Amino acid sequence: MTAGDVAEVAALERLCFEDPWSPASFAAEVKPSHFGWPRILRVGGRLAGYLIAWFVEDEAHLANIAVAPWARGRGYAQRMLDHLRREAYLRGCRIIALEVRSSNRVAVRLYEKNGFLSCGTRRDYYSRPREDALMMVLPLGLQENEE
Ligand SMILES: CC(C)(COP(=O)(O)OP(=O)(O)OC[C@H]1O[C@@H](n2cnc3c(N)ncnc32)[C@H](O)[C@@H]1OP(=O)(O)O)[C@@H](O)C(=O)NCCC(=O)NCCS
Repeated sequence: MTAGDVAEVAALERLCFEDPWSPASFAAEVKPSHFGWPRILRVGGRLAGYLIAWFVEDEAHLANIAVAPWARGRGYAQRMLDHLRREAYLRGCRIIALEVRSSNRVAVRLYEKNGFLSCGTRRDYYSRPREDALMMVLPLGLQENEE
């Protein structure tokens, strides 16, 4: 993701979330000094999805992931997660952590399928609408060593 992608990504974010990140939040992610890892996935030139991860010490945090409605169910989120998992492993991370709305069954299923474990809740973490976050963690190392 570059500065030139920000407006398009923010528009897709508004389609995908009730409480979207602002364009300014995405703009901050593409600054070179930032510890973030912003990626986009294009299919035939069209923006199909994006992922933002933060690398801090030996942890990766999946801060945002979304796939455009027209592109869902084709394995694109899986592909982006695989990419993150490999990058996190190569950077020496021990875990990938994330928060997800407790009602977001599709996302929770995606994470569980990838070996993420629930490790607690953050009460009222989200607003618009207010909702608890489920905290999930994926330990790294075992599967990556086999690849
Ligand atoms: C969650 C999201 C990123 C999934 O993207 P996607 O590209 O459609 O997902 P994939 O095609 O890669 O599917 C991977 C796995 O996710 C799960 N999944 C995806 N769509 C699903 C659905 N409609 N119902 C149940 N599980 C689903 C399945 O486990 C699937 O694996 P399978 O196909 O082997 O069953 C997408 O639905 C989205 O952008 N949602 C809105 C934004 C969002 O909620 N982001 C997550 C915030 S924490």
